[in-house]
Amino acid sequence: MSDAFVSRSLDEVRFWSRIMKEHSLFLRLGFRCEDTQLINEANQFYAIFEAIENRANSLQLDTDPQVIIRFNIEFHTAVSHIWAFKRKVLGLILTCQLPGANNFPLLVDHVSREANYFRNRLQELEPLPDAIIDENVFFLRIMADHAKFISHLLDPSERKLVDQANQFSHDFDQLLFQARDIESMRPQSQTVPILDQFLDQNRVSVKSLRDFKQTARDLIAACRIKSIIHPLLADHVFREAERFLFIIDMFEQHLTGTPVSPRDLEH
Ligand SMILES: [Fe+2]
Ligand SMILES: [Fe+2]
Repeated sequence: MSDAFVSRSLDEVRFWSRIMKEHSLFLRLGFRCEDTQLINEANQFYAIFEAIENRANSLQLDTDPQVIIRFNIEFHTAVSHIWAFKRKVLGLILTCQLPGANNFPLLVDHVSREANYFRNRLQELEPLPDAIIDENVFFLRIMADHAKFISHLLDPSERKLVDQANQFSHDFDQLLFQARDIESMRPQSQTVPILDQFLDQNRVSVKSLRDFKQTARDLIAACRIKSIIHPLLADHVFREAERFLFIIDMFEQHLTGTPVSPRDLEH
């Protein structure tokens, strides 16, 4: 049991500390050069999450669970702080106090939702059927947002890619509505066949979005397409899709009764 706890915690903190570190960078890149205070704050968060990420990577699976519990608390606190920073920035944008800054309000809201998600993730142990619905509602919206960001940050002259991104945006909005329908029909909707079909359908779409993001990431890295997408942002959204797929597969294994070993968490 404690093995699984250490393994799960390290896996989560490794993944999400890197994500939080990169959010700090994306926020900083979107500020205007005169916003020195905000830039400093973003840089501080970058340093904090980089240190946490390095520590998570250096801790081994045989670490004392008590050490991991304290480490999780430390990470949780840091995530709460960056969440508050992101909400503050959202407030500044929506009250027009940062005219000309380059982060979309939805992107700032999105990264704050990711922080909030992670804050709850290590604590909550929901029953499986509830977890399946809640995680899918969360991640489907994240995926729909990504498609919208890609569409809006590609150069308008990349018409074919913009069309594809808009198509994904539409597909994921539909999947999100479906997920919310299943959510409102619970507990009656929480049968194994319905949840299994729900996971299968989502997996198909997430895989194709993941492939699209991978292609976009490679094209951006090779400087083959026109956009204002930072190469690291392209990779970041690709990794988040991979994470969602990993979670879908975990749910599938639990739902169909295949035992999951702590090793499976080390992907
Ligand atoms: Fe993110
Ligand atoms: Fe994201």
